[in-house]
Amino acid sequence: MNTATPPLNAEALSALLPAMRRIGREIVVLAETGSTNDEAAQLGRAGVAEGLVLFAERQTAGRGRLGRKWESAAQKGLWFSLLLRPAFALADWSRLTTWAAVAIARGIEEALPGCRAAIKWPNDIYLSGKKAVGILCESVAGPGGYAVVGIGVNVNHARDDFPEELLTKATSLRESAGAEAEPLDRHAVAAAFLRALDGLYPALENDFADIVAEAEARSFLVGRRITVHGPQETYEATAEGLEADGSLRVRCAEGVTRLVCGGEVSVSAVF
Ligand code: BTN
Repeated sequence: MNTATPPLNAEALSALLPAMRRIGREIVVLAETGSTNDEAAQLGRAGVAEGLVLFAERQTAGRGRLGRKWESAAQKGLWFSLLLRPAFALADWSRLTTWAAVAIARGIEEALPGCRAAIKWPNDIYLSGKKAVGILCESVAGPGGYAVVGIGVNVNHARDDFPEELLTKATSLRESAGAEAEPLDRHAVAAAFLRALDGLYPALENDFADIVAEAEARSFLVGRRITVHGPQETYEATAEGLEADGSLRVRCAEGVTRLVCGGEVSVSAVF
């Protein structure tokens, strides 16, 4: 099924954004690149100011967390990266993933009224129990340091646009809108994301507790039995909530509480 929509256009997208903004101050759209995160990092090294957003219609080497490949079907999704230079301590830059997840969840609900976007800690957005969005934050410390927040959103994919191995795990915004839904206007969806990211950006520094509270309320994991695939060990636990820094608090056997800061978490099979 051909669900491609008109090519993204930076001017058309800018026209949907408020004149005064930080995120999306400059917008670049590439027809194709390896990874938008790599392109944005190159601009970061070159000293480009924070707020630039770089989209690509197709990525040939899109990547996710833990070295995974990210499928980036041409013109079906929104594959983009933000270049940021947060003014707060580097130790807190890990907040960026939670901030981006909450903002993208809000953007999805604005673009698809009635839809509920859940956050699967730390970096995925789930719609109806399947992954529609992945977020990859990368940063370089030191003088001239910068962060790149890469966001991949499956927007207009139909079932047969996903490779075999993702069929049971992935979804798109359009699929979540219903079997008969028309392709979504990617400019409108992208604009909803950039407005939400921009609107929530000051809270990253000043009201991060509010962002964490919303991420917890939207959590796909809290209350569920999960498997934590840590760097040293794999164990079963129940997801309890989020800590002030955005890490995941879990309860293991014998009531022991542990904090998960990285690695991978999956929902345990229920028999
Ligand atoms: C994940 O699910 O592990 C994160 C996926 C992040 C994918 C996006 S697409 C835009 C940006 N460029 C990349 O190479 N990756 C991110």
